[in-house]
Amino acid sequence: MKLGFIGTGALTAAIVTGLRSAADRSVSVVLSPRNEEIAASLASRYQDVRVASDNQAVLDDCDTVMLAVRPQIAHEVVPDLRFRPDHHVVSLIATLPLETIATLTAPAGHVTKALPMPMIAHRQGATIIYPPDPAVAALFGALGQVIEVEDPGKFDALSVVTATYASYFKYLDTIHGWLKDRGVESAQARDYIACLFKALASAPEAAPGADFMHLAEEYATRGGINEQVLRALTDRRVFEVFSDSLDDVHRRIAAA
Ligand SMILES: NC(=O)c1ccc[n+]([C@@H]2O[C@H](COP(=O)([O-])OP(=O)(O)OC[C@H]3O[C@@H](n4cnc5c(N)ncnc54)[C@H](OP(=O)(O)O)[C@@H]3O)[C@@H](O)[C@H]2O)c1
Repeated sequence: MKLGFIGTGALTAAIVTGLRSAADRSVSVVLSPRNEEIAASLASRYQDVRVASDNQAVLDDCDTVMLAVRPQIAHEVVPDLRFRPDHHVVSLIATLPLETIATLTAPAGHVTKALPMPMIAHRQGATIIYPPDPAVAALFGALGQVIEVEDPGKFDALSVVTATYASYFKYLDTIHGWLKDRGVESAQARDYIACLFKALASAPEAAPGADFMHLAEEYATRGGINEQVLRALTDRRVFEVFSDSLDDVHRRIAAA
């Protein structure tokens, strides 16, 4: 596969880093020259990664094109590019519908949406793909898990999950701040929290049949301290507010 990227930013850097750490060397990479610094750094670090002279040169030299610019830039840049009917376009721009991408990239005959995450650099996390596509699934499958969906509504709903990372770290930061206020040394508190939550993160894999509420109940021993915190947050409607915020993000994505 000759893989080109229009837009060499954070996500492209993560994908190329992941690709180059995988054993498979059958994918050569051609990058658009923006961002200049990131493109030059990737090309200097990895074999078979080069920087094209401009966006059109990327297209002319690849069979698969990843669109990795911000949505507003896509509307400015993509209509000026000359796609070929045999191009396979993979849009990483989560908020643009497949139909919009297909119109912008006509006459490219094959368009797929993919939503990888920056942890793909370490070949972790999962990529959502719509519609299912064996070549795109194989590419991202080498870099983590792949979840293929047949329905754009499911793609949008799954993409809402990616809006929750910052709150997760704020949750951990609240525990960390509380410990520091009680005199626990910052690094020690951080290590302890990171270690415990790493173990908790592997609990669903260790108990594949158990849903999350089942795991919550397992930890919430009757009359115990986990039950106390869970009840306090539930009574103050923290989880309802959280769920409402997911609705808000979903509406925003659907309206984009
Ligand atoms: N980062 C994530 O976690 C993530 C996750 C899922 C999906 N996405 C989506 O993936 C896309 C890329 O995200 P990102 O985080 O990689 O964004 P980013 O870091 O801002 O990268 C976008 C890149 O596009 C370049 N660019 C600007 N104008 C250009 C042009 N005319 N031609 C070619 N390249 C141009 C920018 O270069 P300059 O720096 O020179 O302006 C920048 O390097 C976005 O649509 C985003 O919504 C991102």
